[in-house]
Amino acid sequence: MVKINFGCGQEKLEGWINVDLDASYRPEVVADLSANMPFQTACAGLMYSEDFIVQLDLDSAYLFLRECHRVLKPGGIIRLLTPDLEKLTRAYLYEPEWLVATWKQFVGIPLKTQSACEVFNLGIRLAGQFHYDRKTLTGILNECGFHAKEVNYRQSEAPELRGLDLRRPDESISMYFDCYRF
Ligand SMILES: C[S@@+](CC[C@H](N)C(=O)[O-])C[C@H]1O[C@@H](n2cnc3c(N)ncnc32)[C@H](O)[C@@H]1O
Repeated sequence: MVKINFGCGQEKLEGWINVDLDASYRPEVVADLSANMPFQTACAGLMYSEDFIVQLDLDSAYLFLRECHRVLKPGGIIRLLTPDLEKLTRAYLYEPEWLVATWKQFVGIPLKTQSACEVFNLGIRLAGQFHYDRKTLTGILNECGFHAKEVNYRQSEAPELRGLDLRRPDESISMYFDCYRF
């Protein structure tokens, strides 16, 4: 079965076709995923993408998901991880110390003020172009032909999608979806 990992960066998956715009990561396929993909229609059974869709503006994200729908076989699944705008906002409001500590441990870009305010600003500015909450993301996925099921870290009905997630819930603001192609 063909399995494709989009926006792999240096985290390439063995046995998968890893795709990235940046050739320095030496992915199997170098491609700009804000444009049509160099894959045949209905050629893939599974897809994975962690912390990539946030890098796209909204129009490009729609195109990317429509292309995923074209390339995925009916019944196929794309597992999508992306930062959760609501979790970031709640952390800023109610758990500022956790937010600052997590930034220091896992992002590491120095802070001038050591404040959750600064982490919130940097997080939005540096992490990508469009941050989703679950209602917005699942709505877009539905428009693009997917039923999005929120799942737990490293859990999936599909054995090959288990155990892939890099970002743990206690160490990140990720949300986790298995998206079933209609
Ligand atoms: C934050 S990294 C995520 C890497 C890895 N998936 C992870 O979870 O650590 C985002 C990746 O998306 C890639 N990327 C950004 N825009 C892209 C585009 N338009 N087409 C393809 N890849 C892109 C970047 O080169 C980078 O490797």
